[in-house]
Amino acid sequence: MFNLPWLVFSLVVTLASFSFCEGDYVSYDSNAIIINGERRVILSGSMHYPRSTEAMWPDLIQKAKDGGLDAIETYIFWDRHEPQRRKYDFSGRLDFIKFFQLIQDAGLYVVMRIGPYVCAEWNYGGFPLWLHNMPGIQFRTDNQVYKNEMQTFTTKIVNMCKQAKLFASQGGPIILAQIENEYGNVMTPYGNAGKAYINWCAQMAESLDIGIPWIMCQQSDAPQPIINTCNGFYCDYGFSPNNPKSPKMFTENWVGWFKKWGDKDPYRSAEDVAFSVARFFQSGGVFNNYYMYHGGTNFGRTSGGPFITTSYDYNAPLDEYGNLNQPKWGHLKQLHASIKMGEKILTNSTHSDQKISSFITLTKFSNPTTGERFCFLSNTDNKNDATIDLQADGKYFVPAWSVSILDSCNKEVFNTAKINSQTSMFVKVQNKKENAQFSWVWAPEPMRDTLQGKGTFKANLLLEQKGTTVDFSDYLWYMTNIDSNTTSSLQNVTLQVNTKGHMLHAFVNRRYIGSQWRNNGQSFVFEKPILIKPGTNTITLLSATVGLKNYDAFYDTVPTGIDGGPIYLIGDGNVTIDLSSNLWSYKVGLNGEMKQLYNPVFSQRTNWRAINQKSIGRRMTWYKTSFKTPPGTDPVTLDMQGMGKGQAWVNGQSIGRFWPSFIAGNDSCSTTCDYRGAYNPSKCVENCGNPSQRWYHIPRSFLSDDTNTLVLFEEIGGNPQQVSVQTITIGTICGNANEGSTLELSCQGGHIISEIQFASYGNPEGKCGSFKQGSWDVINSAILVEKICIGMESCSIDVSAKSFGLGDVTNLSARLAIQALCSKN
Ligand SMILES: *[C@@H]1O[C@H](CO)[C@@H](O)[C@H](O)[C@H]1NC(C)=O
Ligand SMILES: *[C@@H]1O[C@H](CO)[C@@H](O)[C@H](O)[C@H]1NC(C)=O
Ligand SMILES: *[C@@H]1O[C@H](CO)[C@@H](O)[C@H](O)[C@H]1NC(C)=O
Ligand SMILES: *[C@@H]1O[C@H](CO)[C@@H](O)[C@H](O)[C@H]1NC(C)=O
Ligand SMILES: *[C@@H]1O[C@H](CO)[C@@H](O)[C@H](O)[C@H]1NC(C)=O
Ligand SMILES: *[C@@H]1O[C@H](CO)[C@@H](O)[C@H](O)[C@H]1NC(C)=O
Repeated sequence: MFNLPWLVFSLVVTLASFSFCEGDYVSYDSNAIIINGERRVILSGSMHYPRSTEAMWPDLIQKAKDGGLDAIETYIFWDRHEPQRRKYDFSGRLDFIKFFQLIQDAGLYVVMRIGPYVCAEWNYGGFPLWLHNMPGIQFRTDNQVYKNEMQTFTTKIVNMCKQAKLFASQGGPIILAQIENEYGNVMTPYGNAGKAYINWCAQMAESLDIGIPWIMCQQSDAPQPIINTCNGFYCDYGFSPNNPKSPKMFTENWVGWFKKWGDKDPYRSAEDVAFSVARFFQSGGVFNNYYMYHGGTNFGRTSGGPFITTSYDYNAPLDEYGNLNQPKWGHLKQLHASIKMGEKILTNSTHSDQKISSFITLTKFSNPTTGERFCFLSNTDNKNDATIDLQADGKYFVPAWSVSILDSCNKEVFNTAKINSQTSMFVKVQNKKENAQFSWVWAPEPMRDTLQGKGTFKANLLLEQKGTTVDFSDYLWYMTNIDSNTTSSLQNVTLQVNTKGHMLHAFVNRRYIGSQWRNNGQSFVFEKPILIKPGTNTITLLSATVGLKNYDAFYDTVPTGIDGGPIYLIGDGNVTIDLSSNLWSYKVGLNGEMKQLYNPVFSQRTNWRAINQKSIGRRMTWYKTSFKTPPGTDPVTLDMQGMGKGQAWVNGQSIGRFWPSFIAGNDSCSTTCDYRGAYNPSKCVENCGNPSQRWYHIPRSFLSDDTNTLVLFEEIGGNPQQVSVQTITIGTICGNANEGSTLELSCQGGHIISEIQFASYGNPEGKCGSFKQGSWDVINSAILVEKICIGMESCSIDVSAKSFGLGDVTNLSARLAIQALCSKN
């Protein structure tokens, strides 16, 4: 789109890099972000580089560009980059410099949100766990230990970008940078120290001298010249920057929502996302970023929590696998094109609202000198459609909860509720030819030592978990011995464990006695009767975390694990023995993790046996199999139906935690979703009564050319025999367009339209998957459609009476609906 200007721009920078002072290339006022002198509105989308793979980046970036974005926004993930203090990792999918360079190569900009607190439903909000253990540290406040570390990391990232010449002030793609993140939301409890901290953040950031503007989101008191920006489902009302000279920016337009274990699938309609964006630009917005544009996957143990799922699909325009989520992607693409039609006027004019009725507003952007005009006509009523007569400027049908964009204020080029983009439905194909039936082997998690109470260190107290494991593992063993003489005063003994979560498994004298957890990873009390035998008795408790908390004031101090307990033995009559300050033995992690049973190289050393009835449904069990790489390029997914909870690895790389036995509630899904009215994450949910996450993405770059090793660690008991490798392929596509428009259909990735399952030009009813002929249509509508589309990867049809052989009798209420099938070429 702006390849040419970019080239010229780069040339200018190269020639002039000695004579231009920094900051010349990106500036702003209340109407525009000004890049190299050009007044712009910016459309941006979030993609987090560690949530996909290097191999996926070019395609994701291209699809963002094709979708009409100008910029890609990402956080920087401190915990991944500095897993141990001053030991850095920028390899593989952590190579953000390469990610930025690819974005630049595609001609897009970067918005870099360093944080380094990122929230992001990411483990511990992106903070490394070693930071938590630094003496005297307090996070996100006026604390010298913390500030030193934050400054060191931020400076390192900035210097890496400078070295690679990535800031726009150096000819690079980064046009904006963010420091801290949504601090204003939680600032009050930090008191004066919080205020001092945010001032320090601003000074520290400015001192890094990057030559582009800094932003802070949700920070209504952002110190100047930092721009404060808005996050939410809507930012058209109730928000304006705290400096009248700042542009109005929407850093996180939540296109959907994240998912926790046990949650249903979130769904935010394309109509409502488009409504939010259009309303934002109508209200003078200059920058809109979709959070997320591609959500992706929380590989390994990177998901935050507690209880954030491995999938971070977010119902984004590009789905977890990188496929176009249609109609959302296409509808927003058309919206972007319509907004860009008005870019020159939006960025260089004054605007005024004309309230036509309590719900109807006409907003006119006009340049008095040139006379150019651009309008938004909105209907915020969530029930009633409206027909608005603008007299000389025309008459417009504006559905409830929608915005019409009027080029020159007299021609509708887009309405947020009128969808002309195709719907795509993906199907999962079991890879039968290569992977008909897996043959599984299994090995028990070696627990001899821990069941005997043998750990690697001891303490006379119940330790907090995350500070002890330092995120080396989800698992921490707590073990103690008690002699029967100390419990002789008790009858009918019950073990009571008070834990902060997230999950507990208990064993007494090597026997399993029970497991427990609570929704959302909350704290709970575990209570089970136990048998005390004469002599020494061993209590072994395995505590597991499922993603560390990532949000709230002081969230970093919220304890995990048994942390102080108390742990009691309780007998009849409430006679109680407190074990909390016993001598406890500890061990971090599972022996299987230590021995790397998930790693094909080291797993050879273990004695794996063929599975049998006894090994199915077994707790604390490792399973292993091999599978062939499915041919082609379609994304690969693992159907984990039948499994309980644990973690999965392919060729030694973790594809994340699994928990398909966690079923989403079945109480609030409905077959219809009314896009009208304010969205919230429980609106229009899907997938009730099913596993909250059944399928797990295996990136193709994790696969070998031929045979792969799949290893599962099962914590609570499952059956691997139903597990299968599948590919995700486009199946049914539907199009639906009104008289006078063009209906476009496209199969992705080398697939072709092989069958027209439904086509009707007239007044068809229903929706994709259940279209029906209406009261009238052109007989044999399908013949024309077949002629144009069969055998093609994509096709387009003019929706007009003429195309369908009716001559020139335009019927404004006619429309064309098509349902087609895509197949491999
Ligand atoms: C903005 O509009 C004024 C007239 O009001 C015009 O002179 C100027 O060239 C315009 N600027 C840009 C960057 O288009
Ligand atoms: C209980 O028995 C252990 C040895 O089995 C001994 O060391 C301990 O002192 C005894 N405690 C009491 C209270 O008798
Ligand atoms: C508890 O112990 C008493 C004997 O002391 C016995 O009569 C009773 O049945 C026991 N209760 C339970 C619930 O086992
Ligand atoms: C034991 O304690 C529990 C909880 O404090 C209480 O509900 C119960 O009534 C007590 N039972 C006896 C026999 O004292
Ligand atoms: C919904 O879930 C509840 C509790 O899990 C269950 O009792 C009920 O039978 C389910 N209803 C349907 C229709 O599946
Ligand atoms: C125009 O379309 C409407 C319904 O969509 C239909 O009832 C009417 O018969 C059509 N008119 C003509 C002239 O085809």
